[in-house]
Amino acid sequence: MEPVRDGEADWTLEALGLELAEPGSAPLAQRLYRALRGWIQAGRLASGQRLPSSRRMARELGVGRNTVLAAVDQLIAEGFLESRRGAGIFVADVAFEGVASQCREARPSSAGSDVGEAALSARGRRLLAYCATLDERHGAFAPGVPALDRFPHELWQRLLRRHQHAMPTAWLDYQAQGGVPALREALCDYLQLSRSVRCHPGQVLIVQGAQQGFELIARLLGDVGDRVWVEEPGYSGAQACFSAAGFAVEAVPVDAEGMDVASVAATRPAPRLIHVTPSHQYPSGVTMSLARRLALLEAAERHGAWIVEDDYDSEFRYGQRPIAALQGLVDGARVIYVGTFSKVLYPGLRLGYLVLPESLVGPFRRANARLHREGQYPVQAALAEFIARGHFSRHVRRMRDCYRGRQARLRAALAPAVARGLRLSEGQAGMHLVAWLDSLETERVLVERAVGQGITLSPLSRYYLRRPGRPGLVLGYAGADEEAIERAGRWLAREWERSVRER
Ligand SMILES: Cc1ncc(COP(=O)(O)O)c(C=O)c1O
Repeated sequence: MEPVRDGEADWTLEALGLELAEPGSAPLAQRLYRALRGWIQAGRLASGQRLPSSRRMARELGVGRNTVLAAVDQLIAEGFLESRRGAGIFVADVAFEGVASQCREARPSSAGSDVGEAALSARGRRLLAYCATLDERHGAFAPGVPALDRFPHELWQRLLRRHQHAMPTAWLDYQAQGGVPALREALCDYLQLSRSVRCHPGQVLIVQGAQQGFELIARLLGDVGDRVWVEEPGYSGAQACFSAAGFAVEAVPVDAEGMDVASVAATRPAPRLIHVTPSHQYPSGVTMSLARRLALLEAAERHGAWIVEDDYDSEFRYGQRPIAALQGLVDGARVIYVGTFSKVLYPGLRLGYLVLPESLVGPFRRANARLHREGQYPVQAALAEFIARGHFSRHVRRMRDCYRGRQARLRAALAPAVARGLRLSEGQAGMHLVAWLDSLETERVLVERAVGQGITLSPLSRYYLRRPGRPGLVLGYAGADEEAIERAGRWLAREWERSVRER
């Protein structure tokens, strides 16, 4: 549209009058302001154009002069108009349209996600490669989701309310204590007793979930180009953090005894970090043997690497006693123990913790307080009471029984397929089983058929960095109730048998 030129002020007033005559709920001054600003931005009022005087505008628009002045003053303050003494109010020399059209050209309105991703840094693109999907809804078999239907909601709400209410004023301020002391103490007692972790409360740093712990570790202990060894198959959440921080992520094979560092140690340069899930390898489910644990500790010592022990679901063991943490095996080991409440309570809580070697406590606390800030102290205090009063242990016991039952329902539903050759992992611990398949094609077909069935089938091959990975399915059984798990299990048994027939 052509810009309004000198002498066309009458046209401006007429158009403003029409604009204000339209029904609208915003105050008049604001509508006037928006109309003028919109015209300047669109180039309809050109730079240097003189506006009619505020008196005239008020009179002809039938509004109070204060209304006009409020709109004009706002536009002067924002730089769209300028007041020249004795001469009047003019459209400022803002060249808005030039910049706006450059922006439009650079990002055409049809731009899709490709343009968005092209704008990302190399690190951002590496990170997004680990974020193929946003799993917002979890169907039966979604791995890593606890029994949210069994969480003691009312008790937890009561504790939260009490601690929110009793919050000391000091907790309104920035915090840098590494977390609420009562929570660090309760955690320390629990970890010493149940996991044989060697620690005192000062070594515990509360973070917003394991994921934030990995990020902090990556930033503080590694530089761009450093190597991190990860399990294959392994947990892509941790790998995403390491990759985004600029690490070279290198796969180390996992067999029936867990990660086998000896198989790569002689041929590879030293890593800076080694990420492991020794109690219950994710996702294969194996427990790292003592010989492998000692080999891992020795390799870390020799390479000057840090072991990141990710103990994400060690609470759930069925039958055998929990295996002690790697961290407590020898004194002074180069291990950072990472724990989370996501599995044992619920993932939306966003609380986890690091148990740090003495030498790293100060730097980690300082960096965390600067980088992420600490907070949610009333929630932490509620959790400390939840643990100290025995609710936590009770909940763990109940969930253990619940998951044992859900796993049994799943096994029963899959029994016909198992009788015909489907292989399942042992399921001595954790919240998922692995079904090993004999072809990637079967994996693909089953995953595709699950779509629209309310079932989330996770292909095992995706847990491998080196493609193609081993075919299989990761079957979470904790997050859906017994009926849903049984239904999904029967569906899978039928579909698996069908895929065998079709082969
Ligand atoms: C192996 C492993 N580690 C850690 C976590 C927990 O991460 P967060 O505490 O960030 O929820 C998960 C969750 O899926 C996991 O599978």
